[in-house]
Amino acid sequence: MTVVEANGARIPAIGLGTMTLKEAAGVELIAHALKLGYRHLDTAQAYGNEREVGEALRASGVPREQVFITTKIFRDRLEPGEFERAMDESLERLQVPFVDLVLIHWPNPDVPLPGTIASLCSVKRAGKTKNIGVSNFTVALLEEATRIADEKIATNQIEVHPFIDQSKVMTACKSHGMAVTAYCPIARGHVPGNETLTRIGKAHGKTPAQVSLRYLVQQGMVVIPRSSNKERLAENLAIDDFTLTAAEMAEISKLKKPDGRVVNPAFAPKWD
Ligand SMILES: NC(=O)c1ccc[n+]([C@@H]2O[C@H](COP(=O)([O-])OP(=O)(O)OC[C@H]3O[C@@H](n4cnc5c(N)ncnc54)[C@H](OP(=O)(O)O)[C@@H]3O)[C@@H](O)[C@H]2O)c1
Repeated sequence: MTVVEANGARIPAIGLGTMTLKEAAGVELIAHALKLGYRHLDTAQAYGNEREVGEALRASGVPREQVFITTKIFRDRLEPGEFERAMDESLERLQVPFVDLVLIHWPNPDVPLPGTIASLCSVKRAGKTKNIGVSNFTVALLEEATRIADEKIATNQIEVHPFIDQSKVMTACKSHGMAVTAYCPIARGHVPGNETLTRIGKAHGKTPAQVSLRYLVQQGMVVIPRSSNKERLAENLAIDDFTLTAAEMAEISKLKKPDGRVVNPAFAPKWD
């Protein structure tokens, strides 16, 4: 599988989004994904499934060192001290001594960023995570974070799919050597019915979801699609055996629309 290298991190380009994959069915599905060949799992404290992710890893029989595990600390635990406690709780639930990547899940303007970034760097130095990153950070927040941080920030995990224009924040990530990790890479179900993606997919014997994932990976991004269906889990992994032409890439890039964003909670920052 393609690996994206960024500021010292080596991130498998296709990860499994695990939001909503919970309890026994979640464990079974995540373990199945690992058996299919997924080597990157994306969880978060807010998903309430870190225990299941750890259990699935052990049940799969895939060695820990072959799997890249990301977790995220939510915006209510960003105060220094609290952040470190939250990190320890994640490791306890996952039953691992360290994760591969920990992210600030969402910025919180009520908590000064310098303290949180210092905590983020300190958990890396303490060996509790191999790499650090952020999520849902805007250009301004990225500039502030990179100015303060004394450890390299590996990625900004943001919403990216063919219907959203994230060019400004993606340029900022690139200028700091960070990977872009695309969440909602199939736009939570808006990709499958799209006419352009369907037509391009037919030319390659691929589905619209595979075209969307390929479009993102071909630009150097990491993608973390979620599926609760075994066939679609396999489908989302099978994108390394075709290449979109420059004309197809250009056509897909025209699908961006002003109201294309899918995730926009009340606490979201002012987007670029
Ligand atoms: N950092 C953040 O703030 C943030 C925010 C949102 C999400 N995330 C992460 O990103 C991951 C992915 O985002 P998401 O789960 O919101 O959206 P997504 O992956 O874009 O879409 C998931 C939806 O698409 C369907 N689907 C999956 N594969 C498909 C395929 N091949 N063909 C047709 N439909 C397909 C799934 O249904 P089935 O289950 O029926 O297949 C599911 O309803 C999350 O699980 C989470 O790990 C992070």
